[in-house]
Amino acid sequence: MAWCCLSQIYYQRERQSSDPAAPGPGPCSQAPGESPQLGRVQGLCPTADQLWPHRQRTARADTGAGSWQYSELLCKVSKGGGENAILRHTQRNKKLLVRERLRMLLDDETFLELSPFAGFDLPYGDVPAAGCLTGVGKICGVWCVFMANDATVKGGTIYPISVKKQLRAQQIAVQNRLLSVYLVDSGGAFLPLQAELFPDQSHGGRVFYNEAIMSAMKIPQVAVVCGSCTAGGAYVPTRAQETVIEDKIGSMFLAGPPLVKAATGEDISPEDLGGASMHSKVSGCVDHFASSEKEAYECVRNIILTLNYELPPEETLEYDDPLYSAEELLGLAPRGYSYTLHIKPILSRLIDGSRFQEFKAEYGTTLVTGFAHMEGHLVGIVANNGELTHDASLKGSHFVQLCSQRSIPILFLQNTAPHAPEPTSLSQAEDHTNRLKAQASMMAAVACAAVPKITLVIGGCYGNESYAMCGRSFDPNFLFLWPNARVALVDSKHISTFPQARDDDCTGDDSELMHLKEKLEEESSAFHSSARLWDDGIILPQNSRKVIAQCLTIMKQQKYQIASLQHNPVIRL
Ligand code: COA
Repeated sequence: MAWCCLSQIYYQRERQSSDPAAPGPGPCSQAPGESPQLGRVQGLCPTADQLWPHRQRTARADTGAGSWQYSELLCKVSKGGGENAILRHTQRNKKLLVRERLRMLLDDETFLELSPFAGFDLPYGDVPAAGCLTGVGKICGVWCVFMANDATVKGGTIYPISVKKQLRAQQIAVQNRLLSVYLVDSGGAFLPLQAELFPDQSHGGRVFYNEAIMSAMKIPQVAVVCGSCTAGGAYVPTRAQETVIEDKIGSMFLAGPPLVKAATGEDISPEDLGGASMHSKVSGCVDHFASSEKEAYECVRNIILTLNYELPPEETLEYDDPLYSAEELLGLAPRGYSYTLHIKPILSRLIDGSRFQEFKAEYGTTLVTGFAHMEGHLVGIVANNGELTHDASLKGSHFVQLCSQRSIPILFLQNTAPHAPEPTSLSQAEDHTNRLKAQASMMAAVACAAVPKITLVIGGCYGNESYAMCGRSFDPNFLFLWPNARVALVDSKHISTFPQARDDDCTGDDSELMHLKEKLEEESSAFHSSARLWDDGIILPQNSRKVIAQCLTIMKQQKYQIASLQHNPVIRL
């Protein structure tokens, strides 16, 4: 069925709508020669004030506070390890700052930075941006994942959170088949925390393991040695497929000159021990010698030109902006979670022309499903509009399978309920059981859907419903949070008694309950989540459309890569 028919059907339904708040019929009927368009959705139009007059002021103030915290933190993070460290890095060590390096490498300013708040306020302190900048940008027209150490943060040493951030960047490279570029400037493991970043499966060694697996998957990896790289810092470039080293700036060794002196008594300079000349002429550990930072990044661009990458055809997608301003999303973002959020006003500010082809509009209405375009990309949308009931879950499961069959990426707009009501009668218990079964069916459909998925948590990310809505453990290609989002098993407001084991010596009194609630409250914030990399970053509501459209463009590139695991990795010297 063509878009045209769908929009006409929709148009008719829209005209029949009895909802006084619904928008008037949009320009849905297709004039000859016009491209087919989807119809506008019923109920997209009401403003936040119309929907929640009683809470509007507080909600705006609260969401505003989240945005303020976002801006303040972003500013803090952009300063890396602080003024003194920046001076040491640029004046004494004569190196470019990590963002300047990126600017020299990228085609343009379009860069999707991932998890900038990772490492904020951790038990072992603040580690700005986890000591490394990761994200996706374009070089020579190819979308690449970047992993760049920021040596202003403790010499670029690797903290447990830095490992996690690098592993996530590699996972994004694998899932989206993106070329990887490593800018390595790292003193290796942050030694005081070695036990938390060395021994386990998902610790530091996994980064090197992944490099081999990615190489075998034909995911090209290019590294630049652009600082002093010791131990773990030296493994990354020596496992990449092609490596560039910067003269007088880059060096690599398992143990630096101080350790050599301590072990053998020999005085040796970093250059002689593991500088650019030594590694390009003697050890063969690098493949390209660059006499400056600028030359190194030009060299990377040249390497990328020889990858024989098949790129998506250049296309300029034409699209309409949403009918309603994205700025209004700030006021629409939910803050209290005891009521149901109407999703359609939010949708109308995200999708092209506010046009939506709704699927099963009258069934399981606490989940909204349907097709739309975002900056010209077709996407299936699954959005919470209340509790994930039995009917809503079955509808979700059906729709996700449709998207999978049709190879349409899925966007999940998540706002799951803070708690499931406890059944108080046999019939309620039966309903509850049926609902859980239907949710399990949706979880299976989501887990197995062989299409790219993006999750945007606009409100609550609570309990098991969040799995069915493609939470972190269900492997969405990208997952972002709004600053007001809450991430927890349950909402603190729904805990009324202290869970007490029989042999537990805690009293379960009011103060302990209060303490538990405070802890839960603190641990539920979007910033707490992002600091621990439970997501790919916090984005402001008004930027959501841009970010999601960018992800959809990035994910398209994988269609053009040769996807096969049947290759051997490139084995270096
Ligand atoms: N573990 C913990 N802290 C480390 C560290 C490590 N491996 N390497 C460096 N640091 C700390 C330094 O103590 C210093 O801390 P401070 O700012 O609180 O004083 C900070 O990182 C910067 O180090 P500094 O040597 O002043 O900066 P630099 O830019 O001139 O040199 C390195 C950075 C990484 C090249 C240099 O510090 C070095 O060679 N470190 C040892 C690396 C090593 O042996 N790693 C083995 C890991 S298994």
